[in-house]
Amino acid sequence: MEALKGITILDFTHVQSGPTCTQLLAWFGANVIKIERPGGGDITRSQLRDKDGVDSLYFTMLNHNKKSVTLNVKDDKGKKILDDLILKCDVFVENFAPGTLDRMGYSWEYMHKLNPRIILASVKGFGPGPYEDCKVYENIAQCAGGSASTTGFLDGPPLVTGAQIGDSGTGLHLALGIVTALFHRERSGLGQKVDVAMQDGVVNLCRVKLRDYQRLSSGPLSEYSQFGQGIPFTDTTPRAGNDSGGGQPGWILKCKGWEDDPDSYVYFITQAPVWDKICNVIGKEDWIGDPEYSTPKARLDKLSHIFETIEKWTMTKTKFEVVSICDPLGIPCGPILSMKEIAHDESLRRTGTVVEVDHPERGKYITVGCPIKLSNSEADVQRSPLLGEHNEEILKDFLNYSDEELDEINNTDAMK
Ligand code: COA
Repeated sequence: MEALKGITILDFTHVQSGPTCTQLLAWFGANVIKIERPGGGDITRSQLRDKDGVDSLYFTMLNHNKKSVTLNVKDDKGKKILDDLILKCDVFVENFAPGTLDRMGYSWEYMHKLNPRIILASVKGFGPGPYEDCKVYENIAQCAGGSASTTGFLDGPPLVTGAQIGDSGTGLHLALGIVTALFHRERSGLGQKVDVAMQDGVVNLCRVKLRDYQRLSSGPLSEYSQFGQGIPFTDTTPRAGNDSGGGQPGWILKCKGWEDDPDSYVYFITQAPVWDKICNVIGKEDWIGDPEYSTPKARLDKLSHIFETIEKWTMTKTKFEVVSICDPLGIPCGPILSMKEIAHDESLRRTGTVVEVDHPERGKYITVGCPIKLSNSEADVQRSPLLGEHNEEILKDFLNYSDEELDEINNTDAMK
């Protein structure tokens, strides 16, 4: 039984942040109707195309399990259709630029009056304040949310990360807000407005960095490598390179073959309870009883030297050999996996986190399936819809329009 069966989502999202949210809800079993502008639809259909005239991977990988309806909401008939959809749907999700929805005539007040049970869920770049009117894309959110200033190396510029914490991260936050509002509606009978700002989503994910900013007022951050290197701290959280960010020091170390393979590295954590095992495995038994090395506190100002020493050992093994030796000993470490390795990883295939999908126009491609596993509601990844593929189905079967009404719509610009 699909967990969200019976819930219909009106999906007015585009690009990445909103579509990741509604794709998740579709995987949980919601009926997701993606509304797209007639003509080109979601701009990502035609962005970063790898095959001429075919929906891009950008689009297909963010819009599985949805239906597509083209609707011009600036047309009177289009507005009437949208009103009818709002009356029958449970959630309206959008990530238009600030003010766009109001300009379309679909303010929260209007929607709530039309259907008091509707939930309106919105992604914007910023919450109320000086930047509330700004358009925002992924990297702007990463920068304004504190991630970029704390990512990278101490002697380099701020860095953005490949994980789409601004877009997909905000989509996740929004999905949680929506299911919470749905749960609340079960008891109150009323919908509510759910807002997530991309900046807020990133700030939430950078919580530990705000923690470190406050700890600085009590002294240097001794678990950062810069402490051991004698580099003074400023009054804000520095870039920490590959430091672990938690109480157990870690770093990225070279492995056998690193000269030719840019991903031949392992993340290695010197977790305190297994320190003796680490010393044994790397052949530094003398560190075990040495008070200069035997306690986590004593090791803090020598982390760079310790990781250099461990690296001499990891460089004699492949990243997978390092993991297969350390894992049974309880030493936390993980390989740096390339996208090629992830695409072909058998265990990710088995769990459905990486799946192959067939598309009528582009053929087979690989995508990321649902990363959240429900024991009683398995996500079956279905291809993304073609533009306007479900126009007739939604008008006839969902809105129950008569043939005359369909003819009338076909004579207008509402859906074309
Ligand atoms: N029918 C008629 N008009 C439609 C339509 C439809 N079905 N769908 C969209 N439009 C129109 C809008 O009304 C708007 O017109 P207007 O400016 O005349 O009011 C226009 O299309 C553009 O929409 P908008 O959302 O403003 O897109 P944009 O290309 O100007 O900006 C973003 C793109 C992503 C920067 C912006 O949407 C944004 O900041 N979104 C919020 C933050 C976000 O999610 N960013 C991450 C994206 S991954």
